[in-house]
Amino acid sequence: MRLLRRLLRRSPRTLSSTDAYEKWADSYAAHAHNPLMAIEEKAMLALSPNLQDKIVLDLACGTGRYAVIAQEQDAAQVVGVDNSLAMLQSAKIAQVGLSTTEALPLATASIDVVLCGLALGHLPQIDDSMREISRVLKPNGIALISDFHPFQYLSGARRTFHAADGKVYNVEHYVHLVADYFRIGQSLGLSMTGILEPSIAGKMPVVLVMRFQKSS
Ligand SMILES: C[S@@+](CC[C@H](N)C(=O)[O-])C[C@H]1O[C@@H](n2cnc3c(N)ncnc32)[C@H](O)[C@@H]1O
Repeated sequence: MRLLRRLLRRSPRTLSSTDAYEKWADSYAAHAHNPLMAIEEKAMLALSPNLQDKIVLDLACGTGRYAVIAQEQDAAQVVGVDNSLAMLQSAKIAQVGLSTTEALPLATASIDVVLCGLALGHLPQIDDSMREISRVLKPNGIALISDFHPFQYLSGARRTFHAADGKVYNVEHYVHLVADYFRIGQSLGLSMTGILEPSIAGKMPVVLVMRFQKSS
């Protein structure tokens, strides 16, 4: 009993995504700021089409890491959407919307490329978000989605951050397998056309990076 109490005291508290990003926003840079993000970004860019002249949605944009990249690649228009006001307030994107990924304030078939970095794992189910991605994409449009690799979570790794109060917190996370993404995508006219599972120093994969193409 005493051991259990000691273990519980030591493990960081898990915050909901909204509470976590409220605390994290001030220090969340709009560029890859840890090895996992660096390797994820490299894989996302390896699977990404050229964004020049494209209409790009940075979905669950946070402080706008992928929006900045799209702007640097001369995208015709870049929109960022996130459900954390604090993150959006720190974002450097001209067009932002406060919205959940599950009900987007965007017209059907209006987007060429959706970039969604490390966000869908915070949701218990991804069906509605995938449906919205499919809805807003133009025919033949591309979606790039990354997630914390299921192997990591299932082996006990957690998504953590150091808050300004000096504490470490976990952020809520749910496992979605490649097969889940594949099956849900297929049912929505989104074919998985690329997948990378990069690892650091030859160890277990750290992220899952997937490319989907909307049917014509
Ligand atoms: C790990 S951060 C990634 C931010 C950015 N995509 C990046 O890669 O730098 C996850 C982001 O997902 C957002 N998020 C989580 N659940 C969301 C939801 N249901 N709808 C919209 N945004 C969500 C969080 O607010 C946070 O900004």
